[in-house]
Amino acid sequence: MDDVAAIVLAAGRGTRMKSDRAKVMHPVLGQPMLAWPLAMLEDVGVSRLVVVIGSGREEVMERFAAVPGIAFAWQREQRGTGDAAAAGMAELGDFHGTALIVCGDVPLLTAGTVAELVAVHRRREAAVSVLTAVFADPGAYGRVIVGADGGVERIIEARDAAPAELEERRINSGTYCVDADFLRGALARLDCNNAQGEYYLTDIVGIARGNGLPVAWLDVADNDDIKGINNRVQLGEAEAVMAARVRRRHQHAGVTIGAPGESVTIEAGAEIGTDTVIEKGATIAGDSVIGSGVHIGQGAIIRDSRLGDGVKVRPYSVIEDSIVEDGVVIGPFARLRTGTVLRAGARVGNFVETKKAELGPGSKANHLSYIGDAEIGAGVNIGAGTITCNYDGFAKYRTVIEDGVFIGSDTQLVAPVRVGRDALVGAGSTITRDVPENAVAASRSRQTVVDGRGMASRRERRKDG
Ligand code: UD1
Ligand code: MG
Repeated sequence: MDDVAAIVLAAGRGTRMKSDRAKVMHPVLGQPMLAWPLAMLEDVGVSRLVVVIGSGREEVMERFAAVPGIAFAWQREQRGTGDAAAAGMAELGDFHGTALIVCGDVPLLTAGTVAELVAVHRRREAAVSVLTAVFADPGAYGRVIVGADGGVERIIEARDAAPAELEERRINSGTYCVDADFLRGALARLDCNNAQGEYYLTDIVGIARGNGLPVAWLDVADNDDIKGINNRVQLGEAEAVMAARVRRRHQHAGVTIGAPGESVTIEAGAEIGTDTVIEKGATIAGDSVIGSGVHIGQGAIIRDSRLGDGVKVRPYSVIEDSIVEDGVVIGPFARLRTGTVLRAGARVGNFVETKKAELGPGSKANHLSYIGDAEIGAGVNIGAGTITCNYDGFAKYRTVIEDGVFIGSDTQLVAPVRVGRDALVGAGSTITRDVPENAVAASRSRQTVVDGRGMASRRERRKDG
């Protein structure tokens, strides 16, 4: 949007969060609270973006430094929203367009709502336009007093309000469009004669009216949009609303979510193909990309991973930083750690842990194994209980298993080691040296047999004694 500069107020201490962290860094659905208004403003397409920071500013700057076009304004002392807006305006220099002011603690605000506010502001040729809502129980929100002419007369904070004013149910969302030139002058005139001893941005409304300038307002269509987060109860509520929105978006795009839907968490960065089914209690986190026709079982956790089409993730499997190709079957109770690559049709069964390991097409490790720092070819069978011994207490070493190999159950592969194509390793072996192509390797001790000394004879002896 041409000529609209956004100022995001995010310097507040967030006292009511009872936290050592800056309020805007608390996560909402896997992203710091502040990430949400910033993403929203990117959708709106503002021409400039200033974030006012104070408490915990190093952490905030570091996390958001890479946002395109972002500038930070440092509010050294948190003296109220009016003072914060002034810090933001100082960063904008002699900008003459429309200042869009939003709060960093209102993560549910949508680009559509903000665009509508800008449209109202322009249509009414207002000096200030306030995004408002009507709440049955307006609680601690600032009350919006609308005058006889239909414009906003003033905004009064709950703590400063007289009982009659507290009855007012239209509230201030903390989102405004303001003519930048008017704002500059009005901010210079604010005082802090109020219950909190702070410079209230909301007082610019009274100043505009005093100058005979129009102040417009717009009630949000969805009250959830403007829910501010001041404590952890509100944090939890906002996250629930956000999670429901993300789920709904995927449902409309062809993803089935098992009941109860609230138990399924899908973070905003995830992409999911059609006809994928996600069962209760599952989580898809980070920048995961899930294909079509995938089945994600109950309680599975998938983070920052790519799953191809038709993959089956059985219940309670955990997959992180991994690549899983089409038709792979995982779990139940499998753990794929960072750097796992499962090629098409591979299988990793229950109580199998993998790390920095590639399993070639159609290869299987179906039970109770650890496969780390390993490269496994196509059509390999890894028997139950196989362990790659990749660590000697100092460094990690690789295990290479070529195509078509059969590894018998309960084998230890002491890396670095290579098992050649089509080789067979006998069950119970400890493999410390490379196995040539098509060879048989076994390292277990030879079996002894003593006839007639089994359990039956032992029971006999016990009875006699
Ligand atoms: C503010 C509004 C209130 C509105 C509510 C909506 C004022 C005086 N009141 O109250 O009318 O109903 O938002 O959620 O504006 N901040 C700074 N520096 C400061 C103080 C605050 O950057 O010195 C930032 C905070 O980080 C926060 C935002 O401004 O993101 C709002 O501040 P907060 O203290 O939460 O104001 P509310 O009491 O919620
Ligand atoms: Mg607030």
